[in-house]
Amino acid sequence: LGLWWRRDADPADTPPASAHGHDTGTAVTPSELRRPGKTGLLADLRPSGPIRLQAAAVQTDVFAGAATTLWAYQGCEGGKSCLNPTLHVSRGDTLDVTLHNTLAEETTVHWHGLMVDEANDGSGLHPVPADGERQYRFEVRNRAGLYWYHAHPHNRTGRQLQMGLAGLLLVDDDEERALRAKLGLAWGERDLPLMLADKQVDGRNAIVYRDEADDWIGNRVLANWSPEPAMTVTPGLYRFRMINVANARVLRPAFLHEGAPLPVRLIGTDGGLLDQPRIVDDLFLAPAQRADVLVDFGAVPAGARVVLRSLDYVAMENEDESGPLAPDIMADHPGAVAMGDALDLMVFDVEGIAAPPIHVPDALSSLPPPPDTAGWKAREIRLSMGADGEWLINGLNFRSHGHHPAFEVKRGSREVWDIRNNMTSMPHPIHIHGVQFRVVSRSISPPDIRARQVADSGLGPQDLGFNDTVLVWPGEIVRVAIDFSQPFSGTQRYMLHCHNLEHEDMGMMLTFAVVD
Ligand code: C2O
Ligand code: CU
Repeated sequence: LGLWWRRDADPADTPPASAHGHDTGTAVTPSELRRPGKTGLLADLRPSGPIRLQAAAVQTDVFAGAATTLWAYQGCEGGKSCLNPTLHVSRGDTLDVTLHNTLAEETTVHWHGLMVDEANDGSGLHPVPADGERQYRFEVRNRAGLYWYHAHPHNRTGRQLQMGLAGLLLVDDDEERALRAKLGLAWGERDLPLMLADKQVDGRNAIVYRDEADDWIGNRVLANWSPEPAMTVTPGLYRFRMINVANARVLRPAFLHEGAPLPVRLIGTDGGLLDQPRIVDDLFLAPAQRADVLVDFGAVPAGARVVLRSLDYVAMENEDESGPLAPDIMADHPGAVAMGDALDLMVFDVEGIAAPPIHVPDALSSLPPPPDTAGWKAREIRLSMGADGEWLINGLNFRSHGHHPAFEVKRGSREVWDIRNNMTSMPHPIHIHGVQFRVVSRSISPPDIRARQVADSGLGPQDLGFNDTVLVWPGEIVRVAIDFSQPFSGTQRYMLHCHNLEHEDMGMMLTFAVVD
């Protein structure tokens, strides 16, 4: 069946999603969007040398009323209160972070998207036990862009991220500095991260999670750790570095004014700036993906409200491309929760005097064109489900196959991987550690992508940059090109997995090795 619903959905412990508190029965007052600052959650931290992060359970005021226990990385020096700091580094810097684990279970810090060796990758291959410490020390080789760091212990990643162990990492370089100088948008004011998440929160403001759960869909939305966030903006250009840090929810964000999308300029993806801005009405943001966008609030009248909404969408059937599934098929499955329900994420109130217009340059970066992959070794990555309902990649489940590399890649080689979603149930956001890849082709695309595809490549605007996570739709084959010329030696083991964290924890992950 080409259906798309939560398997084993249990309404008792998966309350319906709330858009700005609709299901709570009480009016929710929008809270001010949290911004990066000197203290608190998201605090900016520009390391000038080695830093320490302490994974700890801490009491915070995330929701109105009672305090919430978060598991967070405590980081700032000088006794400042600083949780999950936003790390700012430049390409070429050495990042030197010692993790001290004060949790009662093992954890790690994975540097998502960074081109590091196995010892610094922070995957579950190298867990840090309770009370233990581990130093991560590596040169930042990536292009400028928004990356992130999060916990990655085997079987526990879903719980630990739901509890809060995730922060942002901004890499800077000359091209990015040049663009910032042209745009003149001040960080923290008109250049802001939007760290989007959903959490399941109980009546006492505790974040809840259940081991062995399927896709963990939250009942509260957070942007930058603010619930029901709102922000007052002036009529003018803003830059948002959007990231989806939800466990399982695929978002389709659009900026709506009176129900119609404001066209936004997509200027960057996971691995940094595109070559030129691409105009989009909305985009897909799966767990772990990033999108760098410019939004012009000068395009709406002062006094207007713009809603950042995740639009609804439907999966399509595998065998034929006849279109969206009928609602009555969904209705036949009570307890099913469609992954693509509409959901309001935050609001922007446009007020004040228009800022002088800003010219957005046509050339953003020297992004190389997609490589000509003729003659590259091709490898198939098959996503499927076993007879017992277990997730498989190339027929293997991580829980039984584990650390033994499923295949080896020669260092210095270049390969194309055909990631084939053999299931019709849902898209899977597939993440590859240690590399940034290019999307080369999509065999079919869901209608929403096809409508906006660039030329006849089958690709959407988000496929045009470097990426480390790619959404593979039901029945689709996505071909990615990967360059393994890494400056390391010896065998380096990396993870390849679905970034739906419940899928990952249930074994939709495998180990591969890059070897000399
Ligand atoms: Cu963001 Cu293997 O993870
Ligand atoms: Cu998955």
